[in-house]
Amino acid sequence: APAATGRAGAKAILIGEHAVVYGRPALAIPVRALEARAEARAISGPSRLRSALYTGQAARAPERLRVTVTAMAAALEAAGSPDTALEIAIESSIPAERGLGSSAAVSAAVIEAALAACGARVDDERMHELIQTAERAAHGSPSGLDARTVRARAAVWFEAGRIEPVSVGSDLTFVIADSGVRGRTREAVAAVAARRAADPAAVDASLDELGALATAVRGQVSAGESDGIGAAMTRAHTLLNGLGVGDPALDRLFAAAVSAGALGAKLTGGGRGGCVLALVRDTDAAAELSDHLTRVGAAAVWTTTVEGGA
Ligand code: PMV
Repeated sequence: APAATGRAGAKAILIGEHAVVYGRPALAIPVRALEARAEARAISGPSRLRSALYTGQAARAPERLRVTVTAMAAALEAAGSPDTALEIAIESSIPAERGLGSSAAVSAAVIEAALAACGARVDDERMHELIQTAERAAHGSPSGLDARTVRARAAVWFEAGRIEPVSVGSDLTFVIADSGVRGRTREAVAAVAARRAADPAAVDASLDELGALATAVRGQVSAGESDGIGAAMTRAHTLLNGLGVGDPALDRLFAAAVSAGALGAKLTGGGRGGCVLALVRDTDAAAELSDHLTRVGAAAVWTTTVEGGA
């Protein structure tokens, strides 16, 4: 039988990371240039994985593939075939641990492929729960933003565990620059929690402001007000640094982007490494900024446009 396939894209958080863990809203965008794909086929056991990181029995996979193994097991369970053995091949262009949703995208692709290999289908809500089961193996208690966004085709508003589409007034072009430093989401989330336990009033004020910025940005995205979006991003970067999730490599890319004329910039995702997201005027500006950020040390750069009129 032909292999069953699954795929999911990368995502970047435009505004609201960390605050979303405390119930504030967030806005995220799909990054179509990067994606995870999986192919699954039934074999006579035991289950196997094939990826750039590891090839061999699923049961013997190293710790960093725990999410993938959990995703496969959750899908087999949901398909009512816990004893089926699969070989799953994974290919992903999404760099891991950079705040771009790599683990959620790989999980989504693996689950989709594994379900299809078993001839099973699940509804959207069940699919979301399965991705969250795998994400919990990686991050502890993820908000669900990644799990929702990696399957979205347009910008999404995330609030109270659910997403809604966001109307986009005019094209928004972003440059994403990888600091080359592995993001440490779990650690960053724990750092915010510790800070909040020590000084709840100050941290809650920052979380409230991030929530208010997200609401403002949603309106600005719909109205095509890119200057306002840029200013909100830059303010969010400062607030996130204040929460203790920044990193010197992120600050360097942030400063380079802003001084080179980006409309705004901020770290994106969990922080303590990972990527900076910068908003630019158009694709020419994106090409220029990409060159500049590469020259000042970005490990990789990508451009993504969120199309207006959607
Ligand atoms: O670093 P990422 O892509 O896993 O994003 C984490 C976003 C947080 O808000 C920090 C955590 C969460 O669960 O939403």
